[in-house]
Amino acid sequence: MPSKTCNVVVLLSGSGSNLQALIDSSLGQDSPVQIRGVISNRADAYGLERAKAAGIDTAVLQHQGFDGRQAFDAALMALIDGMQPDLVVLAGFMRILSGDFVRHYQGRLLNIHPSLLPKYKGLHTHQRALEAGDTEHGCSVHFVTEELDGGPLVVQAVVAVAPDDTVQSLADRVHHQEHQIYPLAVRWFAQGRLRLGEHGALLDGQPLAASGHLIRP
Ligand code: GRF
Repeated sequence: MPSKTCNVVVLLSGSGSNLQALIDSSLGQDSPVQIRGVISNRADAYGLERAKAAGIDTAVLQHQGFDGRQAFDAALMALIDGMQPDLVVLAGFMRILSGDFVRHYQGRLLNIHPSLLPKYKGLHTHQRALEAGDTEHGCSVHFVTEELDGGPLVVQAVVAVAPDDTVQSLADRVHHQEHQIYPLAVRWFAQGRLRLGEHGALLDGQPLAASGHLIRP
């Protein structure tokens, strides 16, 4: 066992296949990653079932009960902080987070996005890549800053676009890569190798390239 484990709290709204990849990779005896809790803003998120099946604490915080984003985010922060995380991982959490929230977790908040950022921030990334005729697409893990899908990149995986790709076939291959790069980035953080420096992400004390660590097929 590593001398110190890294407490991770995962936030999600949906299927949670990225959570599953994180759970699977944290099961090894020498893993420094301890998934301490999973929080969803949706009671019907399948990711909650995945967490329960793995014996991980879950919580649901629905935004409907709150008077605005600030109030919801304050309650969310209190819930997360009660789990004493070293790292907070957004894994398909479909909420825009307030500046207060993002600043509170500065340097210990990661997100995964299904495009080669800075291309295609926001939604419908696979469709947009196909419509643009891109020959390469992919996914990105980044530190979260106040700019939506805009923080310093940690790792990107490139996926070749085939001429006969559909949104679904492309999404499936990108998703498969997400399940490789998110556990990798979380492990780096847990090992103390990855951190957010003043000018961007650092791996083993060295600045990462603007694209982050790039994985090609
Ligand atoms: C992923 O495509 C991720 O990139 C995006 O939300 C999706 C979550 O998928 N942020 P899942 O719930 O982990 O299957």
